[in-house]
Amino acid sequence: MKTLVTNIGQLVDTGDNVGELSILVDHAFLVEGGFIAWVGAEALAPDADQVIDAKNQVCIPGFVDSHSHLIFAGARHEEFSHRMAGSSYQAGGIRSTVQATRSATDAELRANAKKLVAELHASGVTHFEIKSGYGLDLETEIRSLQIASEFTEDVTFLGAHVVPDGISRTDYLALVTGPMLDQAAGIAKWIDVFCDEGAFSVEESRQVLSAGIAKGLRPRMHSNQLKNIGGISLAVELGCASVDHCTHLNPEDIKLLASGQTVATFVPGAEFSTRANYPDVREVIEAGVRVALSTDCNPGSSFTTSMPFVIAVAVRELHFTVDQALWAATKGGALALQNSLGSLAVGSRADFALLDAESYIDLAYRPGVPIVSATYVAGEKVFERTSN
Ligand code: NIG
Ligand code: FE
Repeated sequence: MKTLVTNIGQLVDTGDNVGELSILVDHAFLVEGGFIAWVGAEALAPDADQVIDAKNQVCIPGFVDSHSHLIFAGARHEEFSHRMAGSSYQAGGIRSTVQATRSATDAELRANAKKLVAELHASGVTHFEIKSGYGLDLETEIRSLQIASEFTEDVTFLGAHVVPDGISRTDYLALVTGPMLDQAAGIAKWIDVFCDEGAFSVEESRQVLSAGIAKGLRPRMHSNQLKNIGGISLAVELGCASVDHCTHLNPEDIKLLASGQTVATFVPGAEFSTRANYPDVREVIEAGVRVALSTDCNPGSSFTTSMPFVIAVAVRELHFTVDQALWAATKGGALALQNSLGSLAVGSRADFALLDAESYIDLAYRPGVPIVSATYVAGEKVFERTSN
């Protein structure tokens, strides 16, 4: 089946370098077998079996969300409300979600994740990673990973989120790097650790990630969210695909990141929802660091599935340019997951979103307005907005 996507107002594609976009007009593209088979001037479009009329809307590559925690139960409204009234965010809040998650059935966890995945699609996300990390016992971590694997191939074992109640640090680290990891390694692709104040030290993080690498998992990290305890050098040393949050980076961290392959993933939803100061990405990008943007969707620090919201905050508060932010939410996310998504070049999977807008700039210029009108994964429609 050949499908021609035509009548596109702006066709936006990503280049290799941070912020590099090409904006094409009067262009169309052909989808065949779920992949992009041709891109070119609309006047030269090949024959197709069917047509998607973009109605002069903007077409962008689907967002690649490289960091989410969709497997959990329960919410933390009161904690958020207290924070907005002046209390501070602490890693320990994770433990209240752990209780609710352990008590939930598989069906409840699956239904919650399914609802959040539908929200991601509605925000133009076409590929996403999912972490465990709210079970923190062998049984619940493994069922979290299994449920996550029903939704994505990018499943991340985050047993080292915090030390749960009722077990010593030493015993918990032995569990995470031993029996839990043994089972997780059969399901997950990635291993993650929360390396920060109130969570795990750099040496503990090294222990967790090294154990995962030895079992064939690829490393990524949460680091430098609450404080800079030195996680960036570990991320670069171990060749982490991505180090996420990066709220507190010093000049040495920026140099280290620029010298390696580790993507710096920013999650402005977390600064927004924890009332933290936003990082400034200008020096990071100038130094040549590859950057990504992600929702970090989770019930504690960033309960959003909206990549357009993340882009708008990234532009307004983190000093991304609009082009850099769109690139970071597409190509940057793909680099953070070491895949080739986030592009509409020939050969790419046909993951794209249509925006009811004159320009992709509306992603930041019209904050909070639901401009994503349809989302396609491998050429198949997964979302269509019926009314605004
Ligand atoms: O990425 N930082 C660590 N983990 C999550 C938050 C977890 C929570 O508060 O429930 C995050 O922000
Ligand atoms: Fe996170």
